[in-house]
Amino acid sequence: MVEANKLLRELKKKAKEDGIPIMSDKGIDYLTTFILKNKINTVLEIGTAVGFSAISMALVNPKLKVVTIERDEERYMEAVKNVKKFDLEDRITCIFNDALNVKLDDKFDLIFIDAAKGQNINFFERFSTNLEDKGFIITDNMKFHGYVDMPEEEIKNRNLRGLVRKIKEYKTYLEENDKYETEFSDIGDGLAISTPRID
Ligand SMILES: C[S@@+](CC[C@H](N)C(=O)[O-])C[C@H]1O[C@@H](n2cnc3c(N)ncnc32)[C@H](O)[C@@H]1O
Repeated sequence: MVEANKLLRELKKKAKEDGIPIMSDKGIDYLTTFILKNKINTVLEIGTAVGFSAISMALVNPKLKVVTIERDEERYMEAVKNVKKFDLEDRITCIFNDALNVKLDDKFDLIFIDAAKGQNINFFERFSTNLEDKGFIITDNMKFHGYVDMPEEEIKNRNLRGLVRKIKEYKTYLEENDKYETEFSDIGDGLAISTPRID
């Protein structure tokens, strides 16, 4: 484990140097604690990047299995290499594809959405059928580096403004969703934690 922690620190450092967006320290602490607390044994992750969050989740629970999807080939290849480095090939399955083209039959205790922020509604709709009855869907970057709480006119970049609008739309979609109940947390870059409503 000492060796794994050292490798994980190196992975994080390299991802930062290479400009690969990975989950914040506070976000990952929350996610790994959540996994232990809620006895999560299966995770579907949308957005692998280089495998940092998938590996962090697998290390915290030796029973955990993760399926993770990445559409960028270089990142996917790096993730596969990293998973091998941690000897986690039997518990982490990396899929190289656009998640919106992936159809899975398995059910998961947790679905972690951390990919293109403008597509969150599509990811939620597509994969919520893969959620166990008492499962959770966690979405990262609900604050998007503080921009979501900023007055729109202060966001000068048009693309960024569009993205922020999409995140707000997703927030409203979750708030108004009568099948799922969602709690919003300010931890890290903002998390949404959704669970199926029990009628
Ligand atoms: C924020 S990074 C993921 C970080 C990773 N979860 C971590 O914390 O280590 C988002 C990743 O999602 C990928 N991505 C974006 N849209 C996607 C899609 N539609 N299907 C699969 N991957 C996607 C991007 O290429 C990027 O590598």
